[in-house]
Amino acid sequence: MAAVLASALMLPACRQNTGSETQETADTTTNQPTATMKVTRESLGTLTGNAEVEMYTLRNTSGATVKITNYGAIVTSIQMPDKNGNFGEVVLGFGNVKDYLTNDYLSSGPYFGAVVGRYGNRIAKGRFSLEGQQYTLATNNGPNHLHGGLKGFDKKVWQAQKIQGDTTAKLHLMYRSPDGEEGYPGTLQTSITYTLTDNNELRIEYQATTDKPTIVNLTNHSYFNLAQDSAANVLDHQVTINAGRYVAVDKTLIPTGQLPSVKGTPMDFTTPHAIGERIGKVEGGYDHTWVFDRTGSDGDLFLGARVVAPASGRVMEVLTDQPGVQFYTGNFLNGTFRGHGGRTYVKNYGFCLETQHFPDSPNQPGFPSVVLRPGTSYQTTTVYRFSVQQ
Ligand code: BGC
Repeated sequence: MAAVLASALMLPACRQNTGSETQETADTTTNQPTATMKVTRESLGTLTGNAEVEMYTLRNTSGATVKITNYGAIVTSIQMPDKNGNFGEVVLGFGNVKDYLTNDYLSSGPYFGAVVGRYGNRIAKGRFSLEGQQYTLATNNGPNHLHGGLKGFDKKVWQAQKIQGDTTAKLHLMYRSPDGEEGYPGTLQTSITYTLTDNNELRIEYQATTDKPTIVNLTNHSYFNLAQDSAANVLDHQVTINAGRYVAVDKTLIPTGQLPSVKGTPMDFTTPHAIGERIGKVEGGYDHTWVFDRTGSDGDLFLGARVVAPASGRVMEVLTDQPGVQFYTGNFLNGTFRGHGGRTYVKNYGFCLETQHFPDSPNQPGFPSVVLRPGTSYQTTTVYRFSVQQ
């Protein structure tokens, strides 16, 4: 079934619009659908000490919006229509960027909407070696390193440039991570381009270069709930993941090196299943990496996952060139945070589909490599495409 799904849904990379793009400087904000794409900017001042924190709104001609702050490259809001044409929030997040800076938020570390790196996911005991040299990273998740360390890319202020075209609205974010930052070798010049298209797609392009051999695994940590007006959680969302295997992990969520088949297990999402149907059979809930049946090449993207929310009719498809996806069902959310619309983010209120390489790849010779060397470029693309079905 997975193979059928893969071949039926193999898709070419969405074409980049390069025609008639101009860098826009005027700041205008409107909540109405517009004849053209719009990118607007709002300054929030120097919330983190020195660099200016900003909020950008990308808006397409039908009125769908994506809000992104240059603090952590965080997607704070995505508003998409439901089956009746009503726009509503589909991610978890805060209207006020200050809420991403509180002690409660930082100590619990949900990473709502952020870009995580240099290494998204876990590295066992925060240690790896590369070309004969040992490196030690912070252990910020039990005995392990998680999502780039104590002050990863999710807590950096990125340099932003907005780009507005006729059919796309883009935000380009850049961050230069110095050699040795959080223990990682090499200066990493990183950029993320967020594009909202008129097809209600949020396209995320990641790019990085280094001046010394290093490791990179970037992803976006958005939590989705496609029916926030009516659903108490996402357990009724129907999920398909185009993956016949998953990454087996130990108690600390570090891979054992095995990539077992999903067949006959609660991990089998090769056909649609409600998240809640078998979640009780998975200790702690879903928090694993699925191994896609097909990896992208030459810029081709393929459909990795599809989620349908029956209550709203919203559909989200995830297209990527990455080898895997962390499907995390918000198991550690505990009601501490209230976000958009005053909603309380309880356990399983959102799910993440973090496209990426496998956890602990630097210590797993059998996994695809995450090494980046000088003179080469890390480049990867993921698209979250929204639509509706009745
Ligand atoms: C991890 C979870 C973690 C969450 C928030 C996910 O990517 O897999 O284990 O709790 O991020 O940090």
